[in-house]
Amino acid sequence: MESHQELVRRAQSFAEQAAVDVAKDPYRHGYHIMAPAGWINDPNGLVYFKGEYHVFFQYHPYSAVWGPMHWGHVRSKDLVHWEHLPVALAPSEEYDRDGCFSGSAVDDNGVLTLIYTGNVYAGPKAKQVQCITTSTDDVRFEKYVGNPVIAQPPVDGSADFRDPKVWMHDGKWYMVVGSGKEGVGRALLYSSSDLCRWEYVGVLSASDGSLGYMWECPDLFPLADKHILIISPMGMPGHKNIYMVGTMDYTTGKFTRESYAELDYGADFYAAQTFLGPDGRRILFGWMNMWGTKQPTEANGWAGALTLPRELKLLPDGTLSQNPVSELRSLRRDHYYFSDLVVTSGASGYLDGVTGDQLEIIAEFDLHQCDASQFGVKVRCSADGSQETRVVFRPKEEMLEVDRSQSGLGEGGCRGGKLDTGKEGVLRLHIFLDRSSVELFGNEGRIALSSRVYPEPSSQGVDVFAEDGSVKLIRLEAWRLQSIW
Ligand code: FRU
Repeated sequence: MESHQELVRRAQSFAEQAAVDVAKDPYRHGYHIMAPAGWINDPNGLVYFKGEYHVFFQYHPYSAVWGPMHWGHVRSKDLVHWEHLPVALAPSEEYDRDGCFSGSAVDDNGVLTLIYTGNVYAGPKAKQVQCITTSTDDVRFEKYVGNPVIAQPPVDGSADFRDPKVWMHDGKWYMVVGSGKEGVGRALLYSSSDLCRWEYVGVLSASDGSLGYMWECPDLFPLADKHILIISPMGMPGHKNIYMVGTMDYTTGKFTRESYAELDYGADFYAAQTFLGPDGRRILFGWMNMWGTKQPTEANGWAGALTLPRELKLLPDGTLSQNPVSELRSLRRDHYYFSDLVVTSGASGYLDGVTGDQLEIIAEFDLHQCDASQFGVKVRCSADGSQETRVVFRPKEEMLEVDRSQSGLGEGGCRGGKLDTGKEGVLRLHIFLDRSSVELFGNEGRIALSSRVYPEPSSQGVDVFAEDGSVKLIRLEAWRLQSIW
């Protein structure tokens, strides 16, 4: 068997060659994290380390479909401009030969350490174990000779035993691992003093029967005076990635759930993970795709991207807000500004001059001056009107949706969620368009919707619209955004 470093080099040079053609694809993003070529899924190993942000991701460099998982790696000084680094992990050992699955990263006293799941297909069920790997130069990773550090699931777990997220609390390492048993999703808690020897603490949290049969990618962290547990539940109809708000008791190792909600109501969002920034911000990245959906870019040699980094806050009403980090303002170029427009059904062409497929848009509508049944912003519009992606608000139902039924290739349909606009009577939309995605935040990030779209590259029009009446547009600002790649 080739050594880990040989396999890493082989994967890297394959991806570099493939990247030459992939780069020509008009759907390649301008400022979102992607791999140079091939398939990616979950964000992994998010960490601020020695003054830089590291993001890893589940990676199959050899094709644009999921396969034996590697870890890809990018690095940034500002959360905006990313640099591709060589493939970090390749499946190379007996215990991870069918994939280095999802996991996390920590700064272990100046040593960048990754904790991941080794996956091996053995019989009808996979064997999943937890492993660690370290680096002396933050680029090349050596797998620990004592791997796996957790060689089998505890009695409370099952063969589905993956996605370790590790953090330090009161001088001790803790790990939460996703699992499920007897049809009930569970998050399992471990502790360790050295990252090598782990002690099983118990079931941190479990489904009550309504939250899926397997919890992928758990992440537990404090936020304001609460703890948040994020999971990607399998088998929870209508939900992809949820967050639970509750309290954590380290003496019992139990998380007590008080409420839960969807993290992102768009069609393309899964396996979100967070990390702590140097300034105390809790920052989240998600995978901006979803299992089992069409990936039109597969034909062009790549698939998958991550969301923008989002700062999480706990609001007074106990829900989370998510807003793209403020550093992203450095991408802003040409600026457009409109104010005090009455948008009426049947009319169009309100935003003359605003076009593009890499745009940031902020729009504010006055709900007290609205009798339209629905209104919003259209993006990626073709000149002949046949193609468009609609950001739609229906004030009566307080529903915010992204309608992709005329978006071009890929999945169609309409996805959305409820947005309580409160007494203020204003709808604020914050939209980030990239060349094959729309990320939408409503009213300061009270709701997020991430969607991939694949229109004709020439469909670049933007407009506002109203139906069955009119709505007052208080202001709309737009910026063309610079590319980083
Ligand atoms: C989530 C997931 C993880 C697993 C990884 C494999 O999307 O299924 O549970 O570790 O993807 O790529």
